[in-house]
Parts: sequence; C-alpha cells; structure tokens
Amino acid sequence: MRSLIDILDLSLSEIDELITVANDIIENPENYREKCRYKKLATLFFEPSTRTRLSFEAAMMELGGGVLGFSEANSSSTAKGESVSDTIAVVGGYADIIAMRHPKEGAPLVASMKSDVPIINAGDGGHNHPTQTLTDLLTIQREKGTFENLTIGLCGDLKFGRTVHSLIAAMSRYKGIKFVLISPEELKLPSYVKESHIKAQGIEYKQTTSLEEVMPELDVLYMTRVQKERFFNEEDYLRLKDSYILTPEKLKNAKEDMIVLHPLPRVNEISTAVDDDKRACYFKQAKYGKYIRMALILKLLGVE
Ligand code: NCD
Repeated sequence: MRSLIDILDLSLSEIDELITVANDIIENPENYREKCRYKKLATLFFEPSTRTRLSFEAAMMELGGGVLGFSEANSSSTAKGESVSDTIAVVGGYADIIAMRHPKEGAPLVASMKSDVPIINAGDGGHNHPTQTLTDLLTIQREKGTFENLTIGLCGDLKFGRTVHSLIAAMSRYKGIKFVLISPEELKLPSYVKESHIKAQGIEYKQTTSLEEVMPELDVLYMTRVQKERFFNEEDYLRLKDSYILTPEKLKNAKEDMIVLHPLPRVNEISTAVDDDKRACYFKQAKYGKYIRMALILKLLGVE
C-alpha cells in the first residue's frame, strides 16, 4: 500500500507514467469511466480549499467511484477533540483512499503511518503540496514539451508557499534547470528547501527582489499568493501582500513562449488583464489538476 506524502515519493519514471496516463485520460475519457466503480475516496480537509478538494472529488466521480468527506475541521469530530490518527483509523474503514489537507506540517505523514488505506497529502501547512506539483508538471509538459533546460522564476511568498517547495523538489531532479527566486527579503525561500534540493543537486539559481529585472530570462513564471493564513500579524501581511503584481505592461519584456502559472487562488498578484494573454496558463493548469489526480488515484489503488 502506497501513499503520496512528498513529491519525491515518486520516481521520475513514475511521474512520466502518471503524465502519460493523464494525457490519455484527456484524449480518451470514456475508457476510464468505470475504473473505480464501487471504490470510495474520502476528502478530509482541515483547511479551506476549492480546486484541490473539488478536483479530487471530480476525479473520483469521473472514474466511476464515490466520494465522502468534510471540508472544514469544525464540521468533523476534530471540533470535539479527536486526534488526526483516530480520524484516519476510522475513515480508513469507510473509504479506499484518503486525500487530506491539514494546517500542521507533517500531519499527512503521521496519518499515513496509522492508515490501512493510501493517504494523499493535499497540502500540509507551509510545507508540501505534491498533487499541486503533479498538476504543475502536467501543465509544463503539455505547454513546454520538456522538463529540461528551463529557467523557472518563482515569485511571491516563497517562504510559506508549499506549492513552491514541492515544485522546487520536483524540478531539481531534471537536467539544465535554473531557478530564479523572486521575493521580498522577508518571504525568501527557507534554507532547508534550498539546501536539500537546489544545492544538493547542484542547480544554478539566483535570488532577487525584482521581477522586472529577470522577466526576459524566464521560460516559466510561477506566481504565488502571499499566504495570509501563515502570518503571525496582520500588519506584516498588509505590508507584503502586494509586493508583486503581474500586468500586461510587465509581460512586454517576457519571452513570447514563456508560460505564466499560478496554483490559484489569485488575490492581487496577477491583474485580470493578463488572463487574455496567450502565455497565461493558470486556468488550464487548474483543469489539468483533475486529470493528473485521476491518474494518481488509479496508481495508488493499483487499478490497471
Ligand atoms: C495552493 C495551496 O493550497 O497551497 N492552492 C491550491 O492548492 N491550488 C496555493 C494557495 O493557497 O495559495
């Protein structure tokens, strides 16, 4: 029985395999409609979500399976003081696979050690978000056709942005990658992420506070929201929240074939005027999330 807690739980060839299946699902959805008949997915979301939870549920429905779960801690027995381990032990008796989001870093890992069914980390605090990364990888593969020799700019809240941490871990395994880390001083990438992936793999990188300055170099621009819920005080959030706002004006200096990604939700970091630019891929990216999660569910349930 396998879980997905960290993107590095998957080998490069397993990631390729998931992408191949996701692309096949996009081409031939009818071949997958009965694959998970009589199987159930539980979505246990102790933190808010739109895309991740609904795309997991839509994914299971499109595979012919059923879904159950809760979308806030207050509507579950957590509100009565139940531990995550106990919740998991119980839900494992009702569902075949569990997708779980939790504000505490490491909670899905702890859950996976207690669970009889596969656990998928759907985001743990400011730590990791491996299925968003699979979504990002599918988008990069479809839009750029390769994972190699890309200069990837990551912009915004690199400190608390879990999608950034998982994407860096994943992309650090490919050849010819360069990272450009764009953030305010206070929201810089944590040194553990830099040490364990970028430096460990000998990847070229630079850090800057200016998006404008590096725009012409980028093949991928990954924008992120300042993670309000992880701040200790409102004042800091208010001061930092609008550090970067992508506009059509700023995009003028970007490569013609650069792609703009964002895990969403967007707050202010991308002006809506950018949505019509052909380089804006974030809504497509959100849609691809469903297909890669279908592929992941099939893999973890061992369905052929
Ligand atoms: C992200 C998350 O939850 O970390 N959202 C998502 O899953 N698509 C990004 C965010 O909340 O800013």
